[in-house]
Amino acid sequence: MPTMRERGLVWGRTIFRVLGQNRLSQAGVVVTTATGISMVFLWLIEMLRGGHEHPYSGIILFLILPSLFVFGLVLIPAGFFLQRIKDKREGKAQEPPPPIDLSSPRFRRVFTFVAIATLANATIVGFASYRGLEVMDSVSFCGEACHSVMAPELTAYRDSPHSRVACVECHIGAGASWFVKSKLSGTRQVIAVALKTYSRPIPSPVHQLRPARETCEQCHWPQRFTGDRVVVKRKYAEDEKNTPLTSVLVMHIGGKNARGAAGIHGRHLDAGSRIEYVAVDDRREKIAEVQYRENDGTTTTFDSTEIKATPEQLAKGEHRAMDCVDCHNRPTHAFELPGRGVDRMITAGAISRDLPFVKKKAVELLKVEYPTRDAAVRDIAAGLKAYYDTTYPDVAKTKAKELDEAIKAVQSVYLRNVFPSMRLTWGTHPNHIGHEDSPGCFRCHDGNHTSKDGKTISSDCDACHQVLAMEEENPEILGQLGLK
Ligand code: HEC
Ligand code: HEC
Ligand code: HEC
Ligand code: HEC
Ligand code: HEC
Repeated sequence: MPTMRERGLVWGRTIFRVLGQNRLSQAGVVVTTATGISMVFLWLIEMLRGGHEHPYSGIILFLILPSLFVFGLVLIPAGFFLQRIKDKREGKAQEPPPPIDLSSPRFRRVFTFVAIATLANATIVGFASYRGLEVMDSVSFCGEACHSVMAPELTAYRDSPHSRVACVECHIGAGASWFVKSKLSGTRQVIAVALKTYSRPIPSPVHQLRPARETCEQCHWPQRFTGDRVVVKRKYAEDEKNTPLTSVLVMHIGGKNARGAAGIHGRHLDAGSRIEYVAVDDRREKIAEVQYRENDGTTTTFDSTEIKATPEQLAKGEHRAMDCVDCHNRPTHAFELPGRGVDRMITAGAISRDLPFVKKKAVELLKVEYPTRDAAVRDIAAGLKAYYDTTYPDVAKTKAKELDEAIKAVQSVYLRNVFPSMRLTWGTHPNHIGHEDSPGCFRCHDGNHTSKDGKTISSDCDACHQVLAMEEENPEILGQLGLK
């Protein structure tokens, strides 16, 4: 009977043999063992602490360390191989590989060792790959890993109805081919960030965005009946009293109802895409031609009498089947215009209407072009303070608290929407829902898109919404509806 010590020695010698006596294989063993142990250790810590908060911790834990681990693993056989070539060239005697024979103790030892090591490595690599993919699909990886590049979208996204929907749900979606495409494009993006060759701002629309049918419609059924919805829009005049201007609309959102397709959704999307259009600019704002297909299959072509595109322009333009994103181009990461941001803050009570002319002054200060976000924060505070100190000194004294709150709110509107380092400012990415802040619906519904037989894409206010009140100080209808 061999003693424990002898057995240990035999095993040690076998492992040493298997792992190689050359430098390269030994280096591989060191790298693999070191990263393997630290990975498992860090994963345990991560699990106990419940997730990583920092985007880089995920990248290090599940992308960089596992890559090193695999690199080490590859070095081991590579060392063997190179050593064999070298031995051959130098005419050194080659040790024969152990005979494949389960009754040979030497073979059994090698076999057992290789089997256990392979199992352990496969488990580690498998777990790391799975978690690595999860990390790459996470909001923090997409939004934070490249810092300033995605900061605008991430900031606006966090303040949106989709803030719990991961970036990849809309930007990649399910399925193997989009997965591969996204990883290729992701690699290109990482290189662009490393070389600083990315465009500032990141261009929009995203021409290679996946069709909405395969993303949005996984969660929202277009034909689901949504009916009408009361929409209350609150704005404030740029006068001394910051007078409220409230509009109340009944929005005919539509979808499918008992009588068939109806309303905004039904008319554009019934039975798949039924509208195709040609845009002659990169931003899809100049829509030169629109084709509408009726249920019976007849199509009507509407041409813009304003854009008057030539046949060459039409042929060169972007031909596109209309989907969700043509109206909802900012379903999340939507940026505001200065007036909208200030209105939102006044409605929320963060900016007090008791500060005379606060809407006007805030919008003025927001529109200034500041070199950096820090400069904006500083100058907005100084600007508002100076204005009240000189023009309304008693307000500055009696309403000091309101003024402080207002300053913070105006700063936050700026910080949510403007990113000088990405050249992203007011209006860079317009929102196409509606027609006030951008041409939006009126890119087609402008009364100038006409067919040969004299039909025009409707610009009738009531087709889209009933206007129950239009910029009124105190709309009676709100009280009647039980809203305030
Ligand atoms: C609800 C769906 C949705 C989610 C979630 C989403 N996006 Fe987008 N994103 C879009 C759409 C739609 C566009 C394209 C707009 C267009 O083509 O007109 C877009 C465009 C972009 C663009 C191009 C520039 C721009 O602002 O238009 C970037 C960059 C971007 N998204 C990053 C992100 C990041 C980072 C996240 C996660 C933090 C994210 N998106 C989450 C739908 C989404
Ligand atoms: C993974 C699921 C998911 C995907 C994908 C998704 N959404 Fe949503 N969407 C939601 C959820 C959840 C809400 C919030 C519902 C709520 O607040 O009641 C929402 C809300 C909305 C709203 C209402 C926003 C509001 O102001 O109330 C719109 C419009 C919308 N989504 C459009 C889109 C579009 C367009 C896309 C594709 C570009 C999309 N969604 C993709 C889950 C999703
Ligand atoms: C022709 C433009 C247009 C298209 C195309 C369109 N929508 Fe809408 N959608 C609207 C408008 C307008 C509203 C109402 C917005 C408001 O009231 O602020 C709306 C509202 C919504 C809402 C909120 C519904 C509610 O009951 O409040 C969701 C969700 C939504 N759309 C999803 C989608 C999805 C998903 C698609 C694609 C299958 C789509 N929309 C296509 C214009 C469009
Ligand atoms: C093609 C459809 C369409 C037509 C035509 C249309 N609107 Fe609108 N309108 C919209 C949509 C969509 C919104 C945005 C609702 C939202 O932001 O939630 C809107 C918003 C508004 C608002 C609120 C503006 C705000 O403060 O955001 C007013 C007021 C308004 N429309 C008035 C009119 C009037 C008056 C007409 C007729 C001259 C008209 N609209 C024609 C679709 C239309
Ligand atoms: C790419 C062009 C295009 C855009 C952008 C567009 N529409 Fe339309 N829309 C059409 C066409 C074409 C029709 C069918 C012709 C018609 O009925 O006038 C139509 C029909 C409609 C109808 C039915 C009108 C009726 O009289 O029955 C409504 C409502 C409508 N659109 C609302 C909207 C709203 C709201 C938006 C913006 C959020 C919008 N559309 C954006 C092309 C467009």
